[in-house]
Parts: sequence; C-alpha cells; structure tokens
Amino acid sequence: MTLRRSVVLGHGSYLPARVMTNDDLTRMVDTSDEWIYQRTGIRRRHIAADGEFTSDLAVAAARKALASAGKEIADVDLIIVATTTPDQTFPATAVAVQAKLGMQHGAAFDIQAVCSGFIYALATADGMIKSGMARRVLVIGAETFSRILDWTDRTTCVLFGDGAGAVLLGVSDEEQTLDDRGILTTHIRSDGTHRDKLNTTGGPSSTGTVGVVHMEGREVFKYAVGMITDVIDDAFRSTGLSAGEIDWFVPHQANVRIIDATARKLDIPSEKVVRTVEDHGNTSAASIPLALATAADDGRIKKGDLVLLEAMGGGFTWGSVLLRW
Ligand code: UT7
Repeated sequence: MTLRRSVVLGHGSYLPARVMTNDDLTRMVDTSDEWIYQRTGIRRRHIAADGEFTSDLAVAAARKALASAGKEIADVDLIIVATTTPDQTFPATAVAVQAKLGMQHGAAFDIQAVCSGFIYALATADGMIKSGMARRVLVIGAETFSRILDWTDRTTCVLFGDGAGAVLLGVSDEEQTLDDRGILTTHIRSDGTHRDKLNTTGGPSSTGTVGVVHMEGREVFKYAVGMITDVIDDAFRSTGLSAGEIDWFVPHQANVRIIDATARKLDIPSEKVVRTVEDHGNTSAASIPLALATAADDGRIKKGDLVLLEAMGGGFTWGSVLLRW
C-alpha cells in the first residue's frame, strides 16, 4: 500500500514512413529472408528519412501520448528521453524535444541504457513522481539506430530499426492497492563487465567518432533469458503477484526466440505475449513503448490490465516493470 503512484495517462508511437524488408537487405549484404526470419522473427523494419532525427520521432510519439491523455504540454513538468542515438553528443535529445513541443518550464534529460532505456526511464520517472519531484512526466523511447549501423555487417545490420514510443505518466495521490491502476514495481540492473559484448566501436571521449554497432550476438543470447527472468522474479517477489495473473507480457523486441523462451520459462501463454519484432525489428529503447502502443491501439491492452515489461541490452543492462494499465 503506497500513497503516491504513477499512472499511465496516455500513450503514443511513431514509425518513419520508409519500410525496409528482408528482401531489400539481400541486395545489400549476403543474407536471406529465411535466415533473418528463422533466427530473429524479423520481416521488416522502418528507417528514418534523411533529415528526420531522433527528436522528430520522439516529438511525434509524444504528441500522440498527450492527445490520448487529453493533456497539453503545459500540463507536463518533466520529459525523459531514453535513447542511444541522440541528435547530437550534447545537448540531450530531451531538450530538443522540449523545445519542439514548445515547453520552456520544467526539465528534460536523456537516459542512456541502450535497449533497457525505456525501463530505466520509467523507473526514474516513477521514482521522481513518488518522491514528489514531478507530477506529470513524458517518458519517451526514441531511436534512429539505422544511423549507427555498419550496413556491410550482416550480423548486425539486419536486426535493428527506427521508431519512437511514449507514455504520459501522472501522479495519483489516493491510497492504492495492487488492484488499482499504475506502476506497481520497477527493477533495474546492470553489469559493466559485459560492456564489450554489445557496444559501438567509438565515442566522443575514446575515438572522437560515433562508431558503429558491434555485437557478439551468441554471447548476448546466452545471458539474455536468465537475466530477464531473474529481474521478472524480483517483480513478482516484491508484489506477491505471479505469472499466472499477468494479462499482457510486453518484452523488449530483440529476437522472437528470446521472447518465446522467456515466456515459456515463466509459464506465460503465447497468446498473452505482445510481439512486434516481425514488423519493427529491434528499435532498442523504442521497442517496448512501440509494442505497448500497438497492443493498446488494437484493443488488446485495456485499462486495469496487469502488464509486465522487461528489457535487456548493452552494458549489460536489464530490468522489469510491472504495472496496471
Ligand atoms: O537488444 C539487445 C539485445 N540483443 C539481442 O538480444 C541479440 C541477441 N542475439 C541474437 O538475437 C542472435 O545471436 C542473432 C540473431 C544475432 C544471431 O543468431 P544466432 O543463431 O546466434 O547465429 P550465429 O551468430 O551463431 O550465426 C550463425 C551463422 C554464422 O555462420 P557460421 O559461422 O555458422 O558459418 C553467421 O556467420 O549465421 C551466419 N550469419 C548470417 N547468415 C545469413 C550471421 N548473420 C547472418 C545473416 N544472414 N544476416
């Protein structure tokens, strides 16, 4: 029982217009639709247009989240953008979003936790709302991962896509139980000893360049399911809830094999799993809010549903959020 809780007031998402199929990729690298689909579950991904930046994707998703909540930017006091592909090394993409949304009050900052970014951002926003530091927070995951791919490396370039998703969180000051709407628990983890397994080949302080994505895919795969299920167990332990009570499992969309293995290990039936990886690829920090928006817009996720989110990615970072939508 807590007094203050963060509640999802609205959601939104945005995908760039251009779609790149697996067949398109076969004209660029030595790969096939069959290999990509069998190993990852991906068929297509969206790619940002020239001149379309991460902040543009974020703003489009944020506007929809505000509209779905029936709120204005004046009602927001904090913007958090989770991204690994900022418009610039600095300032934060979140301040570009803030300016583009016409907001000069409050504060805005980025969070960098790669594919776990949206989970980290939700955990941060939730903590700030609970502590009274913020009352309404736009939490956005936005990426233009296509900009940091090595388009000659078939082991990585077939995996990722661009997009953005957002939720507007608001405070509820009333006495709460586990049956009431809102974020019930958040858990974040990292272990930097794994940082070389999934990273970029450069950075401002090391090479002075942006670098491109490098991944030891098999190594990441090896750790993924165990780390994810551990942090989901933390969510169940701290709430007393169990996998059988979950209405929707909305995992980070990196690979359908990881998603399905995790669901199997937790005994979550396949029909309760939201999968968007086929159409979006891995959009890093954007993948969970994109999947949430997809399933809320098509009527699957309804108010009051118990929703389990999880992610794992570069760092390694990983985490879970359990919420009532
Ligand atoms: O979001 C952050 C978290 N990231 C992840 O969760 C990604 C985790 N890893 C994975 O999803 C998988 O490891 C991959 C999808 C990246 C790779 O699947 P895999 O089953 O682990 O394949 P592999 O890396 O073991 O490669 C198998 C073979 C290799 O050939 P040899 O050495 O067996 O001859 C690769 O060279 O597949 C080859 N290969 C490809 N073939 C066709 C690698 N990429 C491709 C490709 N097309 N695009």
